Amino acid sequence: MNIAIIGSGYVGLVTGVCLAHIGHHVICVDNNPQKIKKLKGGQVPIYEPGLQELMRACVKKKRLKFTGSIKEACQQSSVIFLALPTPPKSNGDADLTYIENASREIALNMDSYKLIVEKSTVPAQTGKKIQRTIQLNLPRKFKKGNKILLGFDVASNPEFLKEGSAVHDFMNPDRVVLGVESKKAEKILREIYKPLKTKMVVTNIASSEIIKHASNSFLTTKISFINAVAQICDRVGADVLKVAEGMGLDKRIGRQFLDAGIGYGGSCFPKDVDSFIHLGEKNGYDFALLKEVRRINDWQRRWFVRLIEEKLWNIKDKTIGVWGIAFKPNTDDIRNAAAIEIVRMLQAERARVRLYDPKAMDNARHVLKGVTFCDDPYAATQGCDCLLLLTEWQEFKDVDFIQVHEAMRQAVIFDGRNFLDAEHLRRMGFEYFAIGRGRSV
Ligand code: UDX
Repeated sequence: MNIAIIGSGYVGLVTGVCLAHIGHHVICVDNNPQKIKKLKGGQVPIYEPGLQELMRACVKKKRLKFTGSIKEACQQSSVIFLALPTPPKSNGDADLTYIENASREIALNMDSYKLIVEKSTVPAQTGKKIQRTIQLNLPRKFKKGNKILLGFDVASNPEFLKEGSAVHDFMNPDRVVLGVESKKAEKILREIYKPLKTKMVVTNIASSEIIKHASNSFLTTKISFINAVAQICDRVGADVLKVAEGMGLDKRIGRQFLDAGIGYGGSCFPKDVDSFIHLGEKNGYDFALLKEVRRINDWQRRWFVRLIEEKLWNIKDKTIGVWGIAFKPNTDDIRNAAAIEIVRMLQAERARVRLYDPKAMDNARHVLKGVTFCDDPYAATQGCDCLLLLTEWQEFKDVDFIQVHEAMRQAVIFDGRNFLDAEHLRRMGFEYFAIGRGRSV
């Protein structure tokens, strides 16, 4: 199958590389010339485990190429995936300008049947708008009065991959969702995903769009639920890790996404929750449950800073070591990272921050000012009054805590991810605080 991917960000690039890997011919498009130059040179501009190797292998097999031109991609492909950014507007709605512009450009460059597939998370009913934009912008020669002479279909095929394990997630999905409104579109998409041998859910476009909204919002609901439970655990001397284990063994609940901590971040969850709330509002429904999910998530960070303040006495002029700034481990992505917000709150209280993250330092340098960026986890603890673990990178489990203890002015650790071995650290003489472990309040 000849496939074009418009937008070579996290989603587009992973999708393009993986579709090439399973046997298709893929052309990835991006309007950023520097990005295309890098990709052509074999460099992946983001950190995603396994992606660069796979990309180079696909290029070598001549199944993957890159271009800055939608026209070129259109001419060479019968299926076009839209993997473009849909940033939030101030009212929570998604900004769909990139999708509209790409749809128009596709229409202008269409010369044969095309299947246009939404891959980015978009508000329900975007499929209809893409369809209309294409119809309106098709060259005159393909129209006769109101009749469209050139066949095309729009479909929705939401992505569910997680950053940090995106390649694995793509290759081993729990399901593939196909929102289609013609037999032809269904047949093409089934063919594309056939090598994955996975369960396919076939439905109409609106249901497919809602599956994506609802899945992400449900996951954030699980996270906020366990964070609320963690608050109670702290107050009554219960341990949220055991509570999550006990709940998670019930197959109806499941253990995943029950990790209490400083809350969810990233480029998807906060935006998707806002957008689902907004979709409800636009259609006359107040999704109060999701508003509460969002409130709990915001509050969790502020509560963490309050906990630090309470235990340190004063934050002003304290030196605080921070391990981890990425929104989760195995990525360099810091978009909407809880850690960024926490560092900013501490700086607002006039703390000095020493920071180390295994992969996200370059990105952090662009957005955080006045922070001391350190080369390794030990340097970040030098002379510190406390250490915060904000992203659960495996590397942080393997450090020599004797060295850390010696480097710190006060041996106090706040574990925002319930990641470190509490008993071991306490035995070593650290004061250790975590989330919902029954000892923090
Ligand atoms: C998410 C969805 O999982 C994925 O299906 C969708 O396609 C894109 O959005 P991603 O944002 O890459 O993926 O990361 P994910 O692993 O889901 O984590 C999101 C955030 O939730 C992170 O900040 C993480 O730290 C937090 N989280 C996750 C928790 O706080 N607790 C948990 O139990 C799980």
